Amino acid sequence: MKGLILCAGEGTRLRPITFSFAKPLVPVVNKPVIFYAIEKLVEAGIREIGLVIGPNGGEIREKVGGGSRWGISISYIVQERALGLAHAVKVSEEFIGDDSFLMFLGDNLIKASLEGFVKMFEEHRYDALVLLTPVEDPRAFGVAEMEGDRILRVVEKPKEPKSNLAIIGVYIFSNRIFDVINGLKPSWRGELEITDAIQGLIDRNAKVKGYIVKGWWKDTGKPGDLLEANRFILEGMDSDVQGDVDEESGIIGKVVIGKGAVVRHSTILGPAFIGEGSVIRDAFIGPFTSVGDNVSIENSEIDYSVIMSGTKIRDIVGRISASIVGRDVQILRSGQKPRVLEFIIGDKSKVRLE
Ligand code: G1P
Repeated sequence: MKGLILCAGEGTRLRPITFSFAKPLVPVVNKPVIFYAIEKLVEAGIREIGLVIGPNGGEIREKVGGGSRWGISISYIVQERALGLAHAVKVSEEFIGDDSFLMFLGDNLIKASLEGFVKMFEEHRYDALVLLTPVEDPRAFGVAEMEGDRILRVVEKPKEPKSNLAIIGVYIFSNRIFDVINGLKPSWRGELEITDAIQGLIDRNAKVKGYIVKGWWKDTGKPGDLLEANRFILEGMDSDVQGDVDEESGIIGKVVIGKGAVVRHSTILGPAFIGEGSVIRDAFIGPFTSVGDNVSIENSEIDYSVIMSGTKIRDIVGRISASIVGRDVQILRSGQKPRVLEFIIGDKSKVRLE
């Protein structure tokens, strides 16, 4: 079985973060989100992965590489235009060849292992196995109607959903999907929908099954989702303190402190992550916070936030919370007169003062 990870989307909803990162490279607990997807596939026994990237995907290619980091092979497939998920599969036909494949939407983070899912598909020789999860508002997703483990019908973004089971964006397909996709017509939004391709398989009496996943699942599409994804990953971590922590500091709960990091006269209340070479001085780092590499935080309090590498935060009054701060940012108190607020902030940034 091969793997296909789709990451050609532009990530417009994640701006301004995606002005400086390709969406699959946005860090979740200091690691590009795409790495979690690759690791899930590797854990399920997949050794050949195709990454579908957009025409500007060069940076992804550069950062992810050929797969040697995971002992696998990674190929790149360029989807010139974002014409839908089924279109992404269509352009990958040559890479897939005669194999079946596990398809994973690159901005998804899931907790469940995919190993059982792969075994089940292979054992029963299904044509499609679709991961589903119950959600509160299914209208934003592809939705499946089930009878036992069989999928009877799938509808993309229904106005009146017939069930609460959302398609989460992890699927396994047999090669039969290409017969359907090659005759598929664009949907109302002008895209070749994978949901319509699944319906096509059902209409041809193919074996299409659903599998409801337990545990969390997150689509990292919007900034708030990124904080949540970060929280999920932090919750699953084990403590590992490699940096230098003085006696005046308290480390409580699950905390990772990278090599070369220095913690002085501070409290770190886990789950929290401090990257390599960072300096935390006279500070409080609260739960669900991840701090990148070579960050400096002094005389400030932070919780439920993502602070990316190279950033400096100093002498901030009031707690920084629910914040996402990019790389090499400076948030400092100058102490000078007149007392002014000075901002140099790029497009689509958001600053909320108390
Ligand atoms: C896509 C799929 C949809 C699925 C969703 C999961 O939607 O078309 O069926 O439920 O991903 O995130 P899109 O993100 O393209 O709107």
